[in-house]
Amino acid sequence: MENLNLNPLSSMDDWEDDLIRRYPDPETPKKKEEYRNYQDSDRDATVREFYRLNHQYQTYDFVSAKEEEFLAFNKREMSIWDALDYLNTLVDDSDPDIELDQLQHLLQTSEAIRRDGHPDWFILTGLLHDLGKVLCLFGEPQWAVVGDTFPVGCRFSEKIVHANFFSENPDYSDERYNSKFGIYTENCGLENVKMSWGHDEYLYQILKDYLPKPALYMIRYHSFYAQHREEAYEHLMNDEDRKYFKWVKAFNPYDLYSKAPVPPDVKALRPYYEDLIAKYLPNKLLF
Ligand SMILES: [Fe+2]
Ligand SMILES: [Fe+2]
Repeated sequence: MENLNLNPLSSMDDWEDDLIRRYPDPETPKKKEEYRNYQDSDRDATVREFYRLNHQYQTYDFVSAKEEEFLAFNKREMSIWDALDYLNTLVDDSDPDIELDQLQHLLQTSEAIRRDGHPDWFILTGLLHDLGKVLCLFGEPQWAVVGDTFPVGCRFSEKIVHANFFSENPDYSDERYNSKFGIYTENCGLENVKMSWGHDEYLYQILKDYLPKPALYMIRYHSFYAQHREEAYEHLMNDEDRKYFKWVKAFNPYDLYSKAPVPPDVKALRPYYEDLIAKYLPNKLLF
């Protein structure tokens, strides 16, 4: 029996770096070269191994079990800032000179959104979008926290990254789940579709009563690259999904391309974000 807690990535940022190689910033084509130079075969192998585990184990039943476990919200009660501090205990020791910590990634994302003059709930979404990664601190393996997300309960699209690894997933050969629509119906809407389990769905479920709908779509589907980049699941989308995916697409460049060499000044920014958090969210939330 394989060790299900195996964490092949030296850091979860390896997945994000891989995303930038897959979807380079069109506005700074030079960066492409840099990323290519940065690429090394060890890192590629760990990312591949990460996807192998993810695609093998993310079954319909696995997601159902994780929902039951984590949507009871009985792990911890925290304010948003406590949760941000807690998330930041997830230390990345692979490359301390280059890598930004989790809070810095979140603040760079939100500050880039703020600089472009977007509504305050969009800025707040930038700050919050990866908070669901606290799942790692609850002992979850990387492949059940990060990585591209995709629908379970129907055929896995060829357009999902490393789709060849799905042949090891029991749902791949389960007749209930391996047809185009599986347990779903045409254009049934993503509200009725179960996604692979990870930080997106978890945080959506925590925040779903508090933020405007576009913000919730951005949080819930920001890792659903097979749709927001590849449009591989049009057949499950309804008109509402299509409308709100414009926001998911608008969010993605801030997530991927906001990395700046100068780390944000957390102390100076904190009062602004404390006010923003207080405007939309309760003092404490259950995780
Ligand atoms: Fe994320
Ligand atoms: Fe992110």
